Amino acid sequence: MIRRIAINTGGGDAPGLNAVIRAVALSANKRGWECYGIRDGFNGILSPERYPEGAVVRLTLDRVRGIAHLGGTILGTTNKGSPLRFPMQMPDGSIRETDRTGEIVDFFAREKLDALISVGGDGSLAIAHALHRKGLRVVSVPKTIDNDLDKTYTTFGFDTAVSFATECLDRLHSTAESHQRVMVVEVMGRYAGWIALHAGIAGGAHSILIPEIPFDVEKVAERVRGRDRLGRMYSIVVVAEGAHPVGGHREVLEAAAAGHSERLGGIGERVAAALQERTGKETRVVVLGHLLRGGSPTAFDRLAALRFGAAAVRALDQGRSGVMVSLAFPNVEYVALEEVTGRMKGVPLDSDTLQTARDIGISFGD
Ligand code: F6P
Repeated sequence: MIRRIAINTGGGDAPGLNAVIRAVALSANKRGWECYGIRDGFNGILSPERYPEGAVVRLTLDRVRGIAHLGGTILGTTNKGSPLRFPMQMPDGSIRETDRTGEIVDFFAREKLDALISVGGDGSLAIAHALHRKGLRVVSVPKTIDNDLDKTYTTFGFDTAVSFATECLDRLHSTAESHQRVMVVEVMGRYAGWIALHAGIAGGAHSILIPEIPFDVEKVAERVRGRDRLGRMYSIVVVAEGAHPVGGHREVLEAAAAGHSERLGGIGERVAAALQERTGKETRVVVLGHLLRGGSPTAFDRLAALRFGAAAVRALDQGRSGVMVSLAFPNVEYVALEEVTGRMKGVPLDSDTLQTARDIGISFGD
């Protein structure tokens, strides 16, 4: 019997989080359940001293009115301090990563919260899986602009990121052409090339470099020269932040440390410098970075997020736990958490999208 549920948002924010929160709160209310939002991932529970006003906020109908179209998350989020690897200071001053998921289970028992809807990416899925194994009733909702979660056709946030990157590429064509330059555009995506591939094709890029296909920069330079020979004196190169040369390494801005993963970035600059040197053409770099995570969710992401939120509540109502809501296009389905945890979905090398890019003349630098 469910009376009170909680929802949290974890990891990097993605457009659509507020739409999930709204759908969950409304669907719970419809069943006569109370709905609460945990602040800043699990920080509300794990660092209560930072939240004198309480670890959770009651999600009344008023609180979730008019938020479905807003970017970000009204609950706050964090991609640091996973409860599975929470950095704790030891008496000798050293930092040790500690599993604090037991404290979350205790909090739910103490506050008489019957279930958790956990919205997040790979890290959040691992946390949800651990909480489920400790006996908490949990349903996960997949979120990430990177689209790198397995067993779901897509995650909300991805379409918004791709749409924005495509608009940026459209704008860069005219300035690149006017100046006869090479424009290198670095996009997020972590270890997967989804954003680069989809935006690159939609935005008419001439080369796309993704982590799944290590590149040879000379091949990219040759594509630029080839266009010049045809009188097309400019080129657009999209580079995923996780892309790397054959036999080379990923560019890391910040190494992984206690409680957080490494931060990628910088490959755009490297590729641009190499292209300028090899082609003699003026080359500029644009790093889209966190702009890809901002703004209002597209209609596709908004709808996916609302469907995911409502489906998560239905799952709890049907007595399910330990599952992730998944988009098995065109339907929403449920997948066991053990089937999705710790698995990354990269761009399949035999995908028709990738083949489409090759067919229309886009180079992957291979
Ligand atoms: O996972 C989403 C994402 O935006 C990645 O594309 C990117 O590598 C990372 O998060 C950036 O994280 P941060 O917000 O810590 O810079």
